[in-house]
Amino acid sequence: MRISILGGGGFLGRKIARNLATHGTLGGKTVTALTLFDMTEPPQPDAAFPVASVAGDVAHLPDQAIPAGTDVVFHLAAVVSAQAEADYDLGRRVNLRGTDAVVDRCRALGTNPRVVFTSSVASFSGDQSTTLPDNTRQIPGNSYGAQKAAAELILADASRRGFLDAVTLRLPTVIVRPGRPNKAASSFFSAIVREPLLGLDTDLPVGDDFAVWVCSPRRAVDWLLHAATMDTSALGLDRSIDPPGISTTVAHLLQALDTLAPGASSHVKRVKDDAIAAIVSGWPPAFEASRARALGFSAHEPVLDVIRAFVEDDLAATRADRETP
Ligand SMILES: NC(=O)c1ccc[n+]([C@@H]2O[C@H](COP(=O)([O-])OP(=O)(O)OC[C@H]3O[C@@H](n4cnc5c(N)ncnc54)[C@H](O)[C@@H]3O)[C@@H](O)[C@H]2O)c1
Repeated sequence: MRISILGGGGFLGRKIARNLATHGTLGGKTVTALTLFDMTEPPQPDAAFPVASVAGDVAHLPDQAIPAGTDVVFHLAAVVSAQAEADYDLGRRVNLRGTDAVVDRCRALGTNPRVVFTSSVASFSGDQSTTLPDNTRQIPGNSYGAQKAAAELILADASRRGFLDAVTLRLPTVIVRPGRPNKAASSFFSAIVREPLLGLDTDLPVGDDFAVWVCSPRRAVDWLLHAATMDTSALGLDRSIDPPGISTTVAHLLQALDTLAPGASSHVKRVKDDAIAAIVSGWPPAFEASRARALGFSAHEPVLDVIRAFVEDDLAATRADRETP
């Protein structure tokens, strides 16, 4: 099985690459080649199969990013929420034209590869009390969400035409993100766990009762791998899936943090940020996600396990990274 990861140098791209390298298989089939594509050449995991790193712009996708014979493309390359809101042209170019370029390349290959695309809860709007059913219409309240929703439609139509075989996952906010804060409006949901575990103060721009739909990196990777090999005949024209995340609150997250690291939440400082609050308060905090469960997407673990997994998987590397200037 030949696999490409666009955005292969990013948070989830690296985790998928590491998982494939560790197991050597995807959906029970042997991985024979992996291509990692990003703006700069992504780091390569140690693997028993050949790994190529390719640098470029997804909006001008080089052919080597999706070589002939590719069976599965993970299309993760994106400009994230707050950045896409701050820079309209950049967001549109990467998130929309980048997806067009993926369609063009797959169409040129003529082999109908599986394309796993990461959309977002940000493609919906709703207030803090909403639980969204699977058939909810997407009415995005920000440019990032609009670009993701548009890309979903383009990929669904390309699937109908037989250019590619898309599965889109509308990911919840993935916590706990390792490394440094990023330009996602949701960055603080990870920061309020990660920074205190590093002994550092961090700002909380919303109230403690703020509710959010989240998933762990372990669960996100598991879902993305399932999307790569699932039988798509049951999807029909609707290629987009709300995966079964969990709804939690800031207070619950901080309580779980203190259970694992007593007193750690004292590093969280209440500092209101109206711009960030305006973006995230439009994201629905809960989804029914029953279609995903019926399609075999795995159930989510409790919040305490999410923080424990960060400590096991990423805390040491994050500490080392943060100590490097
Ligand atoms: N992490 C989350 O909480 C979350 C939630 C919902 C959806 N998503 C989506 O999941 C995907 C992966 O998320 P992530 O957290 O790994 O993001 P990330 O920012 O860590 O990775 C995205 C990668 O895309 C690359 N990229 C940006 N512009 C590019 C361009 N012009 N050409 C080539 N590469 C480019 C970046 O360099 C980066 O490595 C993204 O599509 C994101 O929108 C993430």
